[in-house]
Amino acid sequence: MTKNAHRANLSKQFLRNIVKTKKPDDMLQQAKDEGLEKTLGVWDLIILGIGAIIGSGIFAVVGIAAAGGPESVGAGPALVASMIVAAFACVFSALCYSEFAAMIPVAGGAYTYTFATLGEFAAWMVGWILMLEYAIGYIAVACAWSNHLMQLLKGFEHFLPSWVANPPIWLVNDLRTATKTLTDSGLDPNVVIPSIHGFPISVNLPAIFIVVAITMLLIKGTKDSTKMAGVMVVIKLSVIALFVLVGAFFVKPENWTPFAPNGVEGIFMGAFIIFFAYIGFDALSTTAEECKNPQKDLPIGIIGSLVATTIIYVLVALVLTGMQATSGVAIPAGFLKAPMAYAMTVAGQDWAAGLISIGSLAGLTSVLLVLQMAATRILYAMSRDNFLPKRLQKLHPKFHTPHVLTWTVGIIAIIGTLTLDLNVAAELCNFGTFTSFIIVCIAVLILRKTDPDRHRPFKVPFSPWFPILGIICCGGLMIYSMQFLTTSALLFPLWVGIGALIYFHYGYKKNRKAEVLKAEQEKEVEIKINEQQPIVN
Ligand code: ALA
Repeated sequence: MTKNAHRANLSKQFLRNIVKTKKPDDMLQQAKDEGLEKTLGVWDLIILGIGAIIGSGIFAVVGIAAAGGPESVGAGPALVASMIVAAFACVFSALCYSEFAAMIPVAGGAYTYTFATLGEFAAWMVGWILMLEYAIGYIAVACAWSNHLMQLLKGFEHFLPSWVANPPIWLVNDLRTATKTLTDSGLDPNVVIPSIHGFPISVNLPAIFIVVAITMLLIKGTKDSTKMAGVMVVIKLSVIALFVLVGAFFVKPENWTPFAPNGVEGIFMGAFIIFFAYIGFDALSTTAEECKNPQKDLPIGIIGSLVATTIIYVLVALVLTGMQATSGVAIPAGFLKAPMAYAMTVAGQDWAAGLISIGSLAGLTSVLLVLQMAATRILYAMSRDNFLPKRLQKLHPKFHTPHVLTWTVGIIAIIGTLTLDLNVAAELCNFGTFTSFIIVCIAVLILRKTDPDRHRPFKVPFSPWFPILGIICCGGLMIYSMQFLTTSALLFPLWVGIGALIYFHYGYKKNRKAEVLKAEQEKEVEIKINEQQPIVN
């Protein structure tokens, strides 16, 4: 063979390898052989869904979506329209997730579906991008949890020791946030922040505390974690109901005009930002392997929790923008940090503001629970497919949960809380989620063509139009927002590039080695069978 022909052969082989798909039946069999314990019913799923969705998005980020932020204009009272646009972007993807989750109920969510349709490289990339959604999103929510806790403790400063209610800034913030906050208030960070050998030290202790607590809870068991999430969900839904019912009495209709002060741009930017508030329903699909009856329960869980959340968000948006003017006035910092609690304080309802702060803390805790669980389940599926070292898969001897991976995600999150900016983390999380939604919609269309006869307990209605609409809505919002956001729009392609490098240096090679090993094992079995067969002349 000439050198050129050899090269062409290698390239062909390489291309064949990177688009190699994994058969859904093999995935189901593997999950059956090595799978996780099945403990989740339909109510557990709805609780996990609402637990994952309602969090810092509606308790914090909504302020920026309505009033605008450093890199974006606000939607104003048209926040309600942004909410509906974002929900639309989600619903088509939610239907696609449901079709897959019911058809291939194994751990891994979008990552697994991509492996079944677009092949090895795309699957790794989706898994890697999903880490933006779950692990980077997790870090953003942990930082928000820390902010909310500090706000709550400040409210009790007359009853608590001063080191608890007003701790040093470098013990409750990452270095960047601490430096910026001090500089903004005219103080010298070099004087306030201590340093060791010239390195300034600033750690977000409350964020680290919550990450460790959630990690330990998740290791103890999925069922215990969902019970805990259930309590949190009841608390957060109660305080949101309280906000809507009490807040309705303080709505000033004049605050609703002009309805869209920044026109279409404000509505779409608002939709991109508030999309973060909807993230989480897709996390349910990653728990498929732990469902008792995934075919029926998962579609109900995914779509049910999305619809319930949309109704709640629309009500909150109407009351919030009715209570607080969001256009033509200077927006107070308190509104941007914790809009609902702030609006209640302005209305003179401090008791309601206090309860809302407690509820938001509960809300964020349940989001953290589900995000970490989802990140762990995706990594579990990826390590099963040789993209990550196998020893990470190890289950806890007593609790049967993937404890090594759960700690891995916990430790990554702790490192992240030391370095990451909350807003950029939330935007990155949005980019990651949009990408995975688009890919799941594409994957539904592909599998309908390549495997039309496979039993689908749930089917996306009006296919191919609904998946196509999902692609257009998510892709459109993503491209639109890229024009305005700078930091995250640069970091996202960087993340993607790093992922590709890791695949070609580790995952690709490991998978080829695993193939050789499998072929050898099959050969050995074949030889043994042949040896045992009597020779017939
Ligand atoms: N949807 C989740 C939240 O709002 C990520 O916190």
